[in-house]
Amino acid sequence: MTELAFPDGFLWGTATAAHQVEGGNSNSDWWEWELKPGTQCKEPSGAAIDHYNRYGRDIALLAGLGFNTYRFSVEWARIEPSEGVFDEAQLEHYRRMVEAVRKSKLIPMVTLNHFSLPIWVAAKGGWLSDDVPALFERYVRRVVEAFGDSVDWYCTVNEPGIVAFGGYLGAIPFPPGTHGVANWKRAAHGLIEGHRKARAAIKALRPAAQVGQTHAMQEWESNAGGRPAMEYSRRMMEDIYVAASREDDFVGVQTYTRARVEMPRLLGPLSRVALAIPPIEDMVVARAAHPGKINPTPATNPAVRLTQMGWEFRPQAVAATVRRVAEVLPGKPIVVTENGVAAADDADRVEFITDALKSLHAVIADGIPLRGYVHWSAFDNFEWDKGYAMQFGLIAVDRATQEREPKPSAQFLGSIAKANRLTVAG
Ligand code: BGC
Repeated sequence: MTELAFPDGFLWGTATAAHQVEGGNSNSDWWEWELKPGTQCKEPSGAAIDHYNRYGRDIALLAGLGFNTYRFSVEWARIEPSEGVFDEAQLEHYRRMVEAVRKSKLIPMVTLNHFSLPIWVAAKGGWLSDDVPALFERYVRRVVEAFGDSVDWYCTVNEPGIVAFGGYLGAIPFPPGTHGVANWKRAAHGLIEGHRKARAAIKALRPAAQVGQTHAMQEWESNAGGRPAMEYSRRMMEDIYVAASREDDFVGVQTYTRARVEMPRLLGPLSRVALAIPPIEDMVVARAAHPGKINPTPATNPAVRLTQMGWEFRPQAVAATVRRVAEVLPGKPIVVTENGVAAADDADRVEFITDALKSLHAVIADGIPLRGYVHWSAFDNFEWDKGYAMQFGLIAVDRATQEREPKPSAQFLGSIAKANRLTVAG
């Protein structure tokens, strides 16, 4: 047996996002979209797992399992239901939630925007609107004032690369539905601007807070022909956002899988030229960089093991992305703010966690400042357009009774967290 010890003070957590677990988020653009006739959303979020009302017991359960951190998001649509009107009762709700997290001896890590927007913000064009970064900043200020010194970790915008790519380029079925290449670029700009403004506001109010963005990142691979398209995709989906983390206190890495871009060898030089021409570059990226879809499917490569999401089962991908951040921003503290697997068989999750942590331990051994591992997700929950069928949770939820049942993987990861070490055979 080998003991893989993690550094003192390592953050061991689980994550959720308000819209995916709270239920009844009826003032958000997502709720609206889920109920639209002809929506691509499999089912509406409805009562979700009623975390809005059950957070107390949920938090106690997570603490009891051995974790020391809980990453969750506060919902802009609840806190500012219409422009400039802040709902004190909702701020108080989240303040109580933070208190519950702290009383359970968990470190609260608060995400300020996890995909969903208030309907009134979406009506302005969401992240396309020149006004939204400043409106986001104003909302962030109210939240940080309400939390005072009880929150040390803030994630501003969750996965800006995915929001821009999915919501504004229209590459994945994702609201708010204002699609197109020009919108994509504009949204990317708005998201980065929103992050910068939010960071400045948080640091002004609470200089000791650790502020970062959380980035969707994949382990990228290509053959020789696919290399220019792969590099381009990675740049447009990840690198530009990671670069915007240069001034942050930490970088949040969120990795689920590996993406492989394959093109005939002859297309390599051609696409290198094509990628330099804006209209074509945009078309190429739209087709080539579809997350999770670039992997060989069983039809083309039956040897690739897939998760419920249709993504390659690739626990080590997270180490590759952490290494990439360390290459781009050397010395910058990194936290894995999401990593996990959608799997019906919980044994797959235990295997995934083991291999992911082994790969991350090697990263730390190489001197990369990895500060924590936050697993997605604490609970089975609402997986956006895919509804409730995907099982990412360490804890199962019977949505008819709202009963929670920790899976063996919850005990497994909780014990690792408690011991601050992973024991592996050999
Ligand atoms: C998001 C989560 C989502 C998870 C699994 C991340 O992109 O932040 O909200 O549930 O991936 O798809």
